[in-house]
Formats: sequence, structure tokens, C-alpha cells
Amino acid sequence: MNKEKVIVTSALPYANGPIHLGHLSGAYLPADIYVRYKRLNGNDILYICGSDEHGVPITITADKEKITPKDVIDRFHNLNRESFEKFGMSFDIYSRTSLPEHHETAKEFFLKYYNQGLLKEKKSLQFFDESKKMFLPDRYVEGTCPKCGNESARSDECENCGALYEQTELINPVSKISGNRPILKETTHWYFPLNEFQERLEKYVGDMNEKFGWKDTVLQYCKSWFKEGLTDRAYTRDLDWGVKVPLDGAEGKVFYVWFEAVLGYISATKELSAKIGNPDLWKNYWQDSSTKYIAFIGKDNIVFHTIIFPAMLMAWNDASEEKYILPQNVPANEFLNFEGKKFSKSRNWGIDAIDFLKEFPADPLRYTLAANLPENRDTDFYWKEFQARNNNELADILGNFINRTFTFVHKHFDGIVPNQNTLSERDSEMLKLVESYPSRIAEYFERYKIKDGVAEIMNLARAGNKYFNDSEPWKTIKSNRDECATTLNISLQTIFTLAELLSPVIPFSSEKIFKMLNSKSIDWKESGKPNLTEGHKLGQPEILFTKIEDSVIETKMNILSNSAENNIEPMEETPLITYDDFMKVHLRVAKIISAEKVAKSEKLLKLQVELGEEKRQVIAGIAKSFSPEDIINRKIIMVANLKPAKLMGLESQGMILALEDESGKLTLLNVDENIPLGTRAK
Ligand code: 2FM
Ligand code: ZN
Repeated sequence: MNKEKVIVTSALPYANGPIHLGHLSGAYLPADIYVRYKRLNGNDILYICGSDEHGVPITITADKEKITPKDVIDRFHNLNRESFEKFGMSFDIYSRTSLPEHHETAKEFFLKYYNQGLLKEKKSLQFFDESKKMFLPDRYVEGTCPKCGNESARSDECENCGALYEQTELINPVSKISGNRPILKETTHWYFPLNEFQERLEKYVGDMNEKFGWKDTVLQYCKSWFKEGLTDRAYTRDLDWGVKVPLDGAEGKVFYVWFEAVLGYISATKELSAKIGNPDLWKNYWQDSSTKYIAFIGKDNIVFHTIIFPAMLMAWNDASEEKYILPQNVPANEFLNFEGKKFSKSRNWGIDAIDFLKEFPADPLRYTLAANLPENRDTDFYWKEFQARNNNELADILGNFINRTFTFVHKHFDGIVPNQNTLSERDSEMLKLVESYPSRIAEYFERYKIKDGVAEIMNLARAGNKYFNDSEPWKTIKSNRDECATTLNISLQTIFTLAELLSPVIPFSSEKIFKMLNSKSIDWKESGKPNLTEGHKLGQPEILFTKIEDSVIETKMNILSNSAENNIEPMEETPLITYDDFMKVHLRVAKIISAEKVAKSEKLLKLQVELGEEKRQVIAGIAKSFSPEDIINRKIIMVANLKPAKLMGLESQGMILALEDESGKLTLLNVDENIPLGTRAK
């Protein structure tokens, strides 16, 4: 295989909170394993990451903590950089988007579009908080998704169904800073005409998939976007924090964070180039069509990396001599949950990387996460699995094989690699197996099947143990020293190969193993051959993995069950309402007389309810908790004077009340059978 020039990026995490294990297994560990593997193959790699320091996620955290956005980003940029370092991430640079270099790059792109007349200036109605006198972009507003009924949808984007919509379509919007219903106020913004790129984007995604095999999940996301039809996307926001729009009369406006965050990959590469004294180096990568670019992300970032970023690069390329390369592959992962539930800071559910790494070394965590990556579906981190992977696999299989081999060689062969003598069938087979491994693992890693590759590597350690057992060197040392020497030689060669293959996965331990072998990693493709020469002096054995006691895991489980018991979402600062406000809401008793599923929706049921004299249609987001037949003839309480809204094209004339538990399961409120329909609850 020819040497490749590759840019690898991992999503720039928002510097508004600590990195937790879910982040690590989504966009970071798989990328790091891939990068380390590629480097061992002698490829020319740039691995780029940094903090995403703009946008509403940052300002909301600052608002909540009553500190400045700058305080927030400084704190978490440093903390996250440290977490990544302890975890063994091998970024070539960990930059940040608040740097002037990044602001310049972002402005340069905007002006390129602006000057070619690509951006559309439009007036539109945007949410505005009258009490706080500010516009409410993005996550500042929550409401009900007009497409799927998710009640905590963002102002123009739903995390549940992935829909993007106009702010004006959001149902029941609420300002996150005051709790009030925002008004709509006119403002001017610049729009990127994504629709003009649809045809080219479809071709791009199709071609890349054909040539490089995109993940099915990623492809399906793209297809559903194309099917829906791409529309203009606002490039700017009314916000103080971010990259300022470089136009007269655009005071108080910044770029939408996503339109500059993705450019952070480029500005970080510029920063790296300047740092190493070769300021134009970045062009050799980003503007050279022979470079391959792989973007590692979590599934929530797919549209930005497969549609928006490519469209931005196409638009630049249309108007410039210097052409940027586009992502060749975007191997997005699903999510990692924690002990069966989503990571949640507010519910104290999960563990931050930095805390984890204070207690345990990085490699057992890297190995456990790698063995269980959410490559095709969501997976979970379980403390017990962590213990088992550490104790039963790293310590008992890998550690044991290495330890018994070294102990034996030090005891009987003076710590010197013994000769390989006449080979038995078993010896030849073992050598053949070891030799087949580097290319076998490469096949997995090249296709981003990191999890399968890691499982296969552990199988080699298993095979090593079996080979050692079956060869019985403790017997042959007495009966046939030559045969014993051969066994130990081949075991050591196997350990060498394991050290190489595992070095992307558990780099700290691999380094120790190489030290024990008194050797260094070599070209990946050569690493399956017998590389240790006869007579080579080995280093001293070290303990590689320490077993984790049951009591340690029990303590962790106890902490968890405490936090599960206290797992009631802390109340956000709820604004008080007056009696009159309350009386505006008409809660009435009604009865469900028919219920049916809404086509193409997992969440919605279409209900007909009787409310005294009247009949109403209500589209309720309860289908995950109830099947239609469960609830027919149930009496319920509903909000009877809610403004009608459309959900999936169906009119909904009210809302029914239900209680939601921590797992999202709903229970309907019980109403005494004797209460007449239409009775008002006060
Ligand atoms: O989801 C996130 O955490 C975003 N900050 C990812 C940005 S990736 C890229 F655009 F920088
Ligand atoms: Zn939705």
C-alpha cells in the first residue's frame, strides 16, 4: 500500500463541560486508535482537535453559573485538554476556536461567500425575550417539535428526530432564561443557500460511499436529509459571543456556531503549521487533492460534517483557485450510555474522564471502551464489565501470557531470546498465525471496525496462552531444551506482535511491553514476522495490569444506586406565576374514545376525546408508553384551551397530562369514574 497523506479530525467538543466516557467512545478513542495505527504504517498523518468555544451552549452555561463565557471556556478548555492527555489522545494539536487565527479564517470564508453574492440577506421573525431584552437563538428556546412531538426540542432543531425547522414552527416555545413565552421580533440575517448545493452534495455522498464505503447509519441520515430537501440556513445569529459578522451594520451579530466550528479544523491546522515554523504547511494538506480527510464524530453531528461542511467547502472552491478537499469518510458513532441510561450531568449519572483517570490508569479504560464501541448501535459502560475486561482479559489473558513467558525466559535462559530450533507442526502454525495478524487487523481498522479489530487482537493473546500451555515448556525444559527454546522464542515473537498491534489501543502498556522486550515498535506490516533476534537481551519484567477488587466496584455501584435514588431532576429556577396566570390554563376532565398510531411516528398517537358536549382531536406524544387499546375509555385531564397546533400534518386541539418517570415512561393521571366529563381542575 502506498503511503497516504491523511487529515484526521475528531469533533471539537464544546468547552462548556467536562469530557465524559460517552464522548471518549464516540469521536475520540476510535479516531486515536485509527491515527496511531496509520502512523505505524508510515503514513503522513495530521490529527487535529480542539475546543469549540462559541455558540449558545457556552453562553447558557455562563448564564447559569453567573460567570463570563470566557471563564467557562478557559476552565473547560484546560480541563478537557488535560483529560485527553491523561487518556492518551495523540492529537498533533489541541487548539481552540477563540483564537484570533480562527476568527480570521471564519471571516475569510464568510466574506468569500458574501462577495460572490452567495449569501441571501433576509428579514425574519425570531424569538425575543421581552423581559431580558434579547433575541433567543438556538438552545435558548425549547418547545415541542412540530415533526415528532418531542417536548424538549430546540428552537429550530429536534435532537429526537433530527428535524430542522423554522423557529416559528416550534410549538409552545419557552425562553430558557426567563421561562416566559418569547415573542417574535423581526431581525436581519444572512442565509447560506444549502438547497443550491443539493444535487452536488447527493453526488458527493454517493460517490464517496461507492468508493470508500460509508457507514450505513451515516448514509441513511444523509438520504433522509436529501429526501426532505435542503433549505437556506441562517449563517448568523443575534448574540454577543462568537465570531463577529464583518459587515457594517451587523453589530450584535455573530456567525452561527456550526458555520465556524467546522472551520476550526482548518484554523487549528494553521496554528500547528505556525507553531512548527512552517506557516504554509496546512495548505499541503487541506488544499492538496491527494490528501484524504477522515472526520470522526458522534451521530448528532452527522449533518454538519456530511452536508453543511462539504457545501461550505464546495462554495469556497467555486470562487477560488485554491481548492479544499472534502471529507472522504465520516465514520460517525452512535452513543455510549452509562449503566443503561443516558449520561446526565444534572442527574449525576455517569463519570467524567478526569475523575475516572484519577482512580484508574488509562489503558484498562481504553481497552474496555474499545471493546464495546457504539459503532453500529448504542452501547453501555458497566462498572462490572470494566472490572471483567481488566481482570479476565487484560490481566488473565494478555498479562498472564506475557508474564509467564518472561518469567520463564529470565529463569531458564538468562533473559536472552532463545534460539528457534526444529519447528513442530504446532510451532509452524503459531508462526503462521502471528504472521497473518497485522494485515488481518489492518483490514478491520481500515474499515473503521475498531471494535472487531480489538477483539481479534485479544484472540491472538488467547492463542498465545494456548500455544504456551500445549507446548508445556515446564516439561520440555527438562526433556528437550531445544524444543523448549523454540517455544519461548515463538512466545516472545508473539508478544512482540501483540505489543505492536495493541499499541494503538493501550499505548501505555504497549510501551511497557516494548521496554520489557528491550525493543521498539516497527513498521506495522513487518510486525508479524519473528523480529526478535536470537541472543537479544530482554529488559526486566514489569507488572502490566493490576486486578480490580470486587470491593472497588461495589463502592462504585453504591454511589450509583444513591444517585439513582436521588435521581429527581433538580428544579431549574422556576419563575413564579400569578393566580391569574394559572387560571388562564383550563384543565378539564375528558375521556379517550378512540386512539390510533400516527403513521411514520414512533411517539405520536391520534386520540379522539370527549370533553362534555364537545369532541376533540389530540395528537399526543405517548405512543412509546401506551398502545391504543390500553387507553380507550380512560378518563384523563387535558389542557382544554391550548391553541391548536399541527403535528405531522394533523391538527391537535389540546394536550393531555401525564407523569413521566426517569426512563421516559409515562403514566396517565387517574380520574375518579364518577367525575363528569368537562369538569374543570383548579
Ligand atoms: O457537538 C459538539 O460538541 C460540537 N461542539 C461539535 C463540533 S464539531 C466541529 F464542527 F467542530
Ligand atoms: Zn422531532
